[in-house]
Amino acid sequence: MCGIVGYVGSRPSQNILMSGLARLEYRGYDSAGIAVIGEDGTLGMRKRAGKLSVLRDDLARTPLPDGTTGIGHTRWATHGGPTDRNAHPHLADDGKLAVIHNGIIENFAELKAELESDGAVFASETDTEVAAQLLAREYHRNGDDLEAAFRATVNRLDGAFTLLAMHEDHPGLVVGARRNSPLVIGLGEGENFLGSDVAAFVEHTRSALAIGQDQIVAITPDGVRVTDFDGGEVEVEPFEVTWDAAAAEKGGWPSFMAKEVSEEPDAVANTLRGRLRENTVAIPELDGLDELFRGIHRIVVIACGTAAYAGQVGKYALEQWARVPVDVELAHEFRYRDPVLDAGTLVVSISQSGETMDTLMAVKYARERGAKTLSICNTQGATIPRESDAIVYTHAGPEVAVASTKAFVAQITALYLLALHVGRVRGTLPADVQAQQVAELEAVPGKISWILEREQERVTQLARWMADTRSVLFLGRHVGFPIALEGALKLKEISYIHAEGFAAGELKHGPIALIEPGQPVFVIVPSPVFSAQLHDKVVSNIQEIRARGARVIVVAEEGDAAVLPFADEVLHIPLAGPLFEPLLAVVPLHIFAMGLATAKGLDVDQPRNLAKSVTVE
Ligand code: G6P
Repeated sequence: MCGIVGYVGSRPSQNILMSGLARLEYRGYDSAGIAVIGEDGTLGMRKRAGKLSVLRDDLARTPLPDGTTGIGHTRWATHGGPTDRNAHPHLADDGKLAVIHNGIIENFAELKAELESDGAVFASETDTEVAAQLLAREYHRNGDDLEAAFRATVNRLDGAFTLLAMHEDHPGLVVGARRNSPLVIGLGEGENFLGSDVAAFVEHTRSALAIGQDQIVAITPDGVRVTDFDGGEVEVEPFEVTWDAAAAEKGGWPSFMAKEVSEEPDAVANTLRGRLRENTVAIPELDGLDELFRGIHRIVVIACGTAAYAGQVGKYALEQWARVPVDVELAHEFRYRDPVLDAGTLVVSISQSGETMDTLMAVKYARERGAKTLSICNTQGATIPRESDAIVYTHAGPEVAVASTKAFVAQITALYLLALHVGRVRGTLPADVQAQQVAELEAVPGKISWILEREQERVTQLARWMADTRSVLFLGRHVGFPIALEGALKLKEISYIHAEGFAAGELKHGPIALIEPGQPVFVIVPSPVFSAQLHDKVVSNIQEIRARGARVIVVAEEGDAAVLPFADEVLHIPLAGPLFEPLLAVVPLHIFAMGLATAKGLDVDQPRNLAKSVTVE
């Protein structure tokens, strides 16, 4: 959380910083600010509480002198409320030095006391200002050498941080450092960029460098120098950004979420591309790991939020096709309970951003304890894949709306590919079963498109009618259970309605007490063709809640006549083989949440209190 952008070059930097921040606003949006070394050689700074538009309007009213060196920040508050004062950049050295920060400096209280006893006076409640004041002190102790001072500063900090700094005595230089928070370099012609992710600069260059853990970078218009925290030169990995700037634009859609839901078929198709071979699955990135897959006796999936629900769906496929026991754990619970791990455990992390701190820490923890780690991630060059032994990228394209949609279907697709790949290697999958699953996978994009074309308007209409609803329940069994959880999460996240997902079989053990006349309940109904027994059980559950007055909205396969007499509303999905229903059933739930939030007049892309990439624990 918090978005960071830096620029040095020959162009006026303010527009570059502001458009970079616009692309990073998903990372936090409670305040924003920029600092620029102006043509006259002095450092100017403007920051405002509220969304980026508040800062933009302010700059339009009272322009800041422009210049070719600048840094910008969009914030998700940790230390200190979302006020003008606590917004970044933070200044020190009589306003000549500016610092921005993403992360948490854990020893800030002790450093603050030390600096105060040295005479420093603080203007904000943030941990970031401590870094700024410390840097100012080190700057003078290091003969006004900004890079050396920066190195001395970061070596004193504990916790997670990406920090950028610039000083008006050094126009044409921005220094940055990272520990457990993201920072990437964009390489231009006579100009260079820094960003929390490539979205910050992709409209200017697709040539990028990923910086490793505990490294410092100094960018000038003509050069980039990366060193470790001790000053040793470091080789950095170049990569090409595979998507263009337009992919991260709204492109005529009312919201990023609307655009991203419409891209769910492509997210699946692109994740499959290059990984299907003549009736079987072979993921090229996993070449050479056959021995590992044959040797594992357990898989632990770790993730947070929507990614964890994708993991719960993936568990069914991994167990069924690869015959390996799978536990799915929330990353933040996993590492604090002394889990049993060994070299025969494969830890699979799932993260759209690749930066979620809870997930990153769990991956590191697992590695330290001897487990092998594989990352399913949507963001090139992100930290979690870099910290993992193997990577399977989802190719959903940039996801900007805070609530994850297309990344979710891409994550399930990647997990299914992984399950089929590992099943093939372990010899647990007969050829005909592999061929069937490959055919099912290939059909998914078309089936999602069918739902978008046939049901979107109806689901949106239903959401409009339900705009005053105070609580919605979701029920599912088997792979439908995590989809019920995802349906409820999406509604909570963007429409602020109380929503809960339950396993349909658990209903009678407690949740049924919540049912009162008029209570809306979504029920994901399993296929009567492929899972007749499960289907009938769920139909019985529907009768139980109907008898108590619930308003039942079912998500059911087209042609499922058995469910019609018991449903107030039916949302149709196409027939799909066992395990493939989640990839379809989730689509109307995404549309519903979006429709309801829109009907309530809420900002579906930037819901209150949330950030897309949570880089604090
Ligand atoms: C945050 C977001 C969720 C997301 C979760 C995991 O909580 O608000 O939408 O599912 O992080 O994010 P990741 O990037 O690790 O998939």
